[in-house]
Amino acid sequence: MGRVVIKSLPDMSQARNRVRRPDFRREDIVVPPLTKKFGEGRTYWIKTFGCQANVRDEEILSGFFEAAGMKKAKNDEVADIVIINTCAVRENAEEKVYGEIGKHKAHSHRDPNFILGVCGCMMQEEGMAKKVMASYPFVNIVFGTHNLPNILNLVEEHLARKKDLIDVISYPGDIIENLPSVRLDKYKAFVNITYGCDKFCTYCIVPYTRGRERSRDMEDILKECRELVEQGFQEITLLGQNVNSYGKDFNNGTSFATILEAVAKLGIPRLRFMTSHPWDFSDEMLEVIAKYPNIMKCIHLPAQSGNTEMLRLMGRRYTREAYLDLVRRIREKIPGCAITTDIIVGFPNETDEQFEDTLTLCEQVKYDAAFTFIYSPRKGTPAAAIKDNVPDSVKHERFDRLLKVVEAGVISHSSEMVGKTYAVLVDGPSKKDPNVLSGYTENNKLVHFVAPAYLKGHIVSVLIKEDHAFSMFGELVGDPILYLADDLVKALSKEESVLAYNEAKRAYEEDEEIASIRNRIEDAQKAMVQCAAHSDDVGYQKAKNEYTSLMDLYKNHPVVLNLETAESQLRPLLEEIARGLA
Ligand code: 5AD
Ligand code: SF4
Repeated sequence: MGRVVIKSLPDMSQARNRVRRPDFRREDIVVPPLTKKFGEGRTYWIKTFGCQANVRDEEILSGFFEAAGMKKAKNDEVADIVIINTCAVRENAEEKVYGEIGKHKAHSHRDPNFILGVCGCMMQEEGMAKKVMASYPFVNIVFGTHNLPNILNLVEEHLARKKDLIDVISYPGDIIENLPSVRLDKYKAFVNITYGCDKFCTYCIVPYTRGRERSRDMEDILKECRELVEQGFQEITLLGQNVNSYGKDFNNGTSFATILEAVAKLGIPRLRFMTSHPWDFSDEMLEVIAKYPNIMKCIHLPAQSGNTEMLRLMGRRYTREAYLDLVRRIREKIPGCAITTDIIVGFPNETDEQFEDTLTLCEQVKYDAAFTFIYSPRKGTPAAAIKDNVPDSVKHERFDRLLKVVEAGVISHSSEMVGKTYAVLVDGPSKKDPNVLSGYTENNKLVHFVAPAYLKGHIVSVLIKEDHAFSMFGELVGDPILYLADDLVKALSKEESVLAYNEAKRAYEEDEEIASIRNRIEDAQKAMVQCAAHSDDVGYQKAKNEYTSLMDLYKNHPVVLNLETAESQLRPLLEEIARGLA
């Protein structure tokens, strides 16, 4: 591999290391000269596999490429640089990656300037980077999850040295702020709150590929979320391999409940979070979720298995009973809360009885949705060293049985939704039919309904008509155009002159002196009317004098003058809008 410069290679023993404390850094984006020249007028394409952490990494990579002057390509075939962002969590995810890399062979031979990069969790596996470079000689840069912020320098080095590069460091990881980012969606955003994982479930590769569990500073998270609210985002999902652990590394009492509440208070219409480990889910978290209407009542709570011995072997730190107790607490504190899960079938040596416990757990909990997986050995994890006596055919048969039980639970919830109205955040036209929109309810059910495409990004009311278990069909409630009228009202309520008017009006309504003057004016008016009715000229004149002096006092009162000024400043804006609409 003379063409390849190896800058660093992953190392499982280093990947296990948790000793080094994370470094907090704020990076300035520097675009090196050759990369800048390469970037001008060129395009990029990123293909992402795996979880939301990878999706967020794609957004950050896009941010770097756009900082270097590139634009997103129409498709991968015309792109000047393609990055394949990989997932290592199961073997089938890896097989898809090989197919994806192979697709770019012709492209690479056709265009000598084309750059192909491969990154993400799969590259953090020992031996993988070299294997990819050897099997696919047209790959130019292999880099790891920790090397992502260095992407522009890697491109620079590749261009300068005309060599292919491997840079995959294994270390506990840092917290780097000020990273550039181009969000993939205009209305829904992912915000990392923690990186890495320290749980070391025995089957899982993630603690080795993403490093030590480390929390972002609360102020940095809040700043990011505040900007999203200001930009009109409708939904934020706080991300972490285990969000419950947020803040534990600060040792100052900060917890996930603290950050969840602080973000909820920023006024984002919808707030979600994932994933929650069932082991350290606190009552304080439940209280915050229950308290804020903008926190979606939907908790992803991976059980993995329903058998306590299996859970012990998986290193999950809870028993079946403790899990069920948590489910009970959630349902007690947050009635109607949706609960979803992940289940692994066929962990080494799982017996029929142990598997039956998983089935009965699913029957008892009745999940709103469940992601089910057949166990896939991951090299370097403790479970991969266990000799397994369960044949594949048995695993597949169990998997099919599990799906049926899961589906029955899902239907028990979804069938109850028919005939009720739900708030749906519209994602846009559905993939199958452009006349049909799709979106998600608060409890994360996919709903399809006929409505105009301009409702994308709005939270609308949909009456559920049909239940298809994993999705719903519904009917828009109300006139679609009125949702746009609501937007106008919302936009207006943020206008400075409206804010000033509301403030002046509030001061006016709360001023006790004004209230008393107004009462006295009313009394004087009544006295004038009565005196006039009884032809009492003297009394009438007295009441009139009183009325005139009170009116003088009222008109010149600073609170009234302030309200008049605010009104006169707001009026032209409203008149202009009215003229525009007429
Ligand atoms: N095999 C099968 N499924 C796995 N998961 C993680 N590691 C493995 C593995 N080795 C599943 C878990 C986890 C989800 C993201 O992926 O259920 O919650
Ligand atoms: Fe993997 Fe367990 Fe960490 Fe989840 S909590 S990322 S399953 S090690």
